[in-house]
Amino acid sequence: MFKKSFTVATVLFAILFLITACSDSASEDQQTTEPAPTNQSDNQDKTEPAHNQLQLPQEHLQKNDTGDAVQSLQEALHKIDYSIDPNGTYDSMTTWAVTDYQMQQESLPVTGIFDDDTRSSLNETLENNTTIKPGSELEKPDNDHSNIVSNPHEILSLINKENSLPDGFEPVNLVVPDVRFPFEDFLPKKQMRQVAATALENMFEAADEEGLELFAQSGYRSFDRQDAIFASNVQEHGEEAANNFSARPGESEHQTGLTMDVTSPDVDFRLTEEFGETDEGQWLEQHAAEYGFIIRYPEGKEDITQYQYEPWHLRYVGEKAATDIMEQAITLEEYLR
Ligand code: DAL
Ligand code: ZN
Repeated sequence: MFKKSFTVATVLFAILFLITACSDSASEDQQTTEPAPTNQSDNQDKTEPAHNQLQLPQEHLQKNDTGDAVQSLQEALHKIDYSIDPNGTYDSMTTWAVTDYQMQQESLPVTGIFDDDTRSSLNETLENNTTIKPGSELEKPDNDHSNIVSNPHEILSLINKENSLPDGFEPVNLVVPDVRFPFEDFLPKKQMRQVAATALENMFEAADEEGLELFAQSGYRSFDRQDAIFASNVQEHGEEAANNFSARPGESEHQTGLTMDVTSPDVDFRLTEEFGETDEGQWLEQHAAEYGFIIRYPEGKEDITQYQYEPWHLRYVGEKAATDIMEQAITLEEYLR
């Protein structure tokens, strides 16, 4: 009897032990498997970076644009360590960040403008967590009210009698555009920045198709070259008269590499007001903006530009700004106000 009771008790004990052991192992399983979802969500944070929630704007954005798209861009720039205020205005800090970023990417033209190529590049940078060093190529502007231009690389930089280029500024990526010049030999003034040179080539090609004969006369000038030209003009005309058509060194757009003086055989390749009345001059008035160029010193705007009418002086600002400026018949000064 005792033996039977003992056996029953043993079996019961064994069953109880098994039940307890199973429930313990179940809770152990839970403990070992529970952290998994936590890890998973950690992993999600790592493999699906927050940038996926930052939709980079699809549109082209540039200085003075405002709105949610600008704010999204600013948040993306912030994510790659640019300490800019995501205030929804494409201000000088945003332009600085875009320009500095472009200068760190060999494949990108340096414009200060957020375009398709910059979007693709920025997406890759965010995806790959590539390290960017803010300010390593272009110093962060610290005083917006200085009359020294803080960002001479952006294509919307305003260079005039009130805003001069920093000491020692030399543009990068100077090339000789493949267009006609009225002289053969290489001279530094044949050069422009690559981005402007390409646009000039396209414009000359379109003019050729219309049977026009545009010639490029004078592009990039160093500070020293402008110094010599201005000094010679002062000697010939006096300082005040000279400064109506010739910029002081440091105040000439020619030093940026974004400008080309153009002419035609009809005016004997001179840079003269009559060029504005030639077929070439008239065509430029109508079509230069399609290629990103403006006639920088228009007739009737001398009090704003502080230079005489120069129908030959073309400045590259990009298609969007050029179209707005030429359609509204305003100056770069007015556009950037
Ligand atoms: N002719 C323009 C104003 C210059 O010298 O840059
Ligand atoms: Zn000029």
